[in-house]
Amino acid sequence: MSVIIKGGTVVTAEQTFRADVITEGEKIVAVGPDLQAPSGAEVVDAGGCYVMPGGIDPQTHMQLPFMGTNAIDDFASGPAAAMSGGTTSIIDFVIPGKGERLYDAYKKWMGWAEKATADYSFHVAVTWWDDSVREDMGILANEHGVNSFKHFLAYKGAIMADDEILVQSFERARELGTMVTIHAENGELVAHLQKKMLEEGITGPEGHPASRPPEVEGEATNRAIRIAEMIGVPVYIVHTSSKDAMDAVVAARMRGQVVFSEVLSQHLVVDDSVYRNPDWRTAAHYVMSPPFRPKKHQDALWYALQSGMAQTTATDHCSFLTKQKQMGRHDFTKIPNGTGGLEDRMTILWQHGVNTGRITMNQFVALTSSNAAKIFNIYPKKGCLAPGADADVIVWDPEKTRTISAKTHKQKVDFNIFEGMEVQGVNVATLSRGKVTWKDGDMRAERGAGKYINRPTNGVYVQQARKLHEQRKVIPVKREGDKE
Ligand code: URP
Ligand code: ZN
Repeated sequence: MSVIIKGGTVVTAEQTFRADVITEGEKIVAVGPDLQAPSGAEVVDAGGCYVMPGGIDPQTHMQLPFMGTNAIDDFASGPAAAMSGGTTSIIDFVIPGKGERLYDAYKKWMGWAEKATADYSFHVAVTWWDDSVREDMGILANEHGVNSFKHFLAYKGAIMADDEILVQSFERARELGTMVTIHAENGELVAHLQKKMLEEGITGPEGHPASRPPEVEGEATNRAIRIAEMIGVPVYIVHTSSKDAMDAVVAARMRGQVVFSEVLSQHLVVDDSVYRNPDWRTAAHYVMSPPFRPKKHQDALWYALQSGMAQTTATDHCSFLTKQKQMGRHDFTKIPNGTGGLEDRMTILWQHGVNTGRITMNQFVALTSSNAAKIFNIYPKKGCLAPGADADVIVWDPEKTRTISAKTHKQKVDFNIFEGMEVQGVNVATLSRGKVTWKDGDMRAERGAGKYINRPTNGVYVQQARKLHEQRKVIPVKREGDKE
């Protein structure tokens, strides 16, 4: 089966040029001007549109069992909604409970993902430590294409990793040639501040940001980065939401450390005033961690994306229905943490980034797709629009407008945190490994069509961190009388 995308302007992370694109089976086979359509090829008209690599969301949580319930978007609904918005691959998370073998948890998540509508991969979380964890990290990295291990520095009493776990896990990650990723909030402080809020009678969603202030994120970001520096492993900070955290990332990059940071589309445009909404249900829908911040932090996030200090955008899509959020009606600490965004990430970044001049179209491609592929070592299979790459391609109409709403979105969740936002720049067609899965409002995603993405170990950034670390090696001094 062939597809020709005709008459568009190709935008990659490096270049912008007029070209047609031909796909054959699952791959891109030609990119160039005035290409001849292969016989029987499906034609996608891209006149007046930009043709770009499909987006990669490197942080999602489909059907995650979390805080006593399960995230509502699953591996069928979430990735299908994602493809309508231009995202063709997700990297989700396997999160084992304390004492659960990592490999068992991985198999469980792989089973859930059999219905995936788009391509997917998994970071695996290290939530506890013993020899079996060490062994399973090896099995996952060497035999199952897992090249990143996640650590939650928050969620005390549940999945939080303490410094001892971080040290053990980072050492093992370095040995295996993988990266480490971090949810950076000091869980001890969060638990302390939550208790204080409740004692003061603050039970509503406004207690959520007050118990997770930027300082809590800044401390944890710096700590994780410093531990990674000592051990010599590349570190990727997920959902960097504050200037405090970004300052730690910038400082590390300025001293030459291999550190990456990710920004959520939500944190770029939503601020902490949402938690004071008089309607409890609305306020509760914004409860996610790290929380939304005072507006000034948004500038720091944008500057980081503009300057290359932050490399990727994600959504951390972890959506809960209004009735699930009700679990915390009288205690904000029990509101399931998480928001949606998977479907809207790219249009939000275009509207507030490209349309405002904050980022170029080429930066848009880098920040929504190519950089994630490079960091997680799946480039140029993913995140690339060139012959030989997977035919994950989107057609973007820069003139088309849309009003974001839960009434029209494809996600299962019954609330949209961008409700009512007008955007100009909309995805009109999506190819997922050569199949048209979305075109002009017609959803053609198929249950089970998504494939698992193997991510090889020992990528360039792992090698870079290893070489830098070798320079710290201590050379012993030979002294007279030393034992041979
Ligand atoms: O609130 C959030 N972010 N929920 C999902 C789990 C996590 O912390 O990433
Ligand atoms: Zn997180």
